[in-house]
Amino acid sequence: MSKINKILKKKNKSKIVSLTAYSTSIAKILDNYCDIILVGDSMANVLYGMKNTHNIKLNTIIQHSISVKRGIKKSVLVVDMPKGSYQNPSQAKKNAKFIFKKTKCDAIKIESNNKNFKIIKEIKKAKIPVMGHIGFTPQFDKKFKVKGKNKEEVKTLIKEAISIEKAGAFSIVLECVTPNAAKCITKKLKIPTIGIGSSSNCDGQILVTDDILGLSGFYPKFVKKYINLNAIIEKAVKQYSKDVTKKIFPRNKNFLYGK
Ligand code: KIV
Repeated sequence: MSKINKILKKKNKSKIVSLTAYSTSIAKILDNYCDIILVGDSMANVLYGMKNTHNIKLNTIIQHSISVKRGIKKSVLVVDMPKGSYQNPSQAKKNAKFIFKKTKCDAIKIESNNKNFKIIKEIKKAKIPVMGHIGFTPQFDKKFKVKGKNKEEVKTLIKEAISIEKAGAFSIVLECVTPNAAKCITKKLKIPTIGIGSSSNCDGQILVTDDILGLSGFYPKFVKKYINLNAIIEKAVKQYSKDVTKKIFPRNKNFLYGK
């Protein structure tokens, strides 16, 4: 069974575990515990300190995806298409094929602006599996907003999700939609929904790894911080600085040759 079919089969059976990665070392760890590893354009904020995801380059995402791929044995590798790389069906297909060839990923992800269903169809025609992304979509939404707060919004989200499924996507990220919207969409779709800030009413969950590790400094309510790596790293670096200053490091045992 293909990796993508395994994800599809999980719907209504077991939860899909997903996290982001931008490097081989992190991917190696995640690979033992995740069904899906996403090279997200969130790297713009998290790794490159940009104020949003709008200016991360296609080649930057590709380089990080090549690194992540080296750490993966079993998980499904999904690569985010950056803003501006899928503005029309032919450009989207060309760039998706380029990403697929260069990174050897299993699928690509595109954010929805409630219009780009043809783009999904076109990429799918090139035999590249597509993950959709609705709700709060950082590439298109100017301001953060939880989606699905009233009946009308829920209806719009369901319609958008169904169109994405019909266009051929194999799964869909629901970012910051209400628990009710997540429940309705998950029930309506045959493909799995992967939630971020969208309650447990989804077929799976995704978070940004740097957030759960306490590395990014971004901890909204929907993130569970499992460890404070910032504090741990700071402690180690402080000790190293002290050791070098006080001539405690390096010791003779750290010398490669002689005394
Ligand atoms: O870019 C990203 O990391 C994402 C996830 C948060 C879903 O799109």
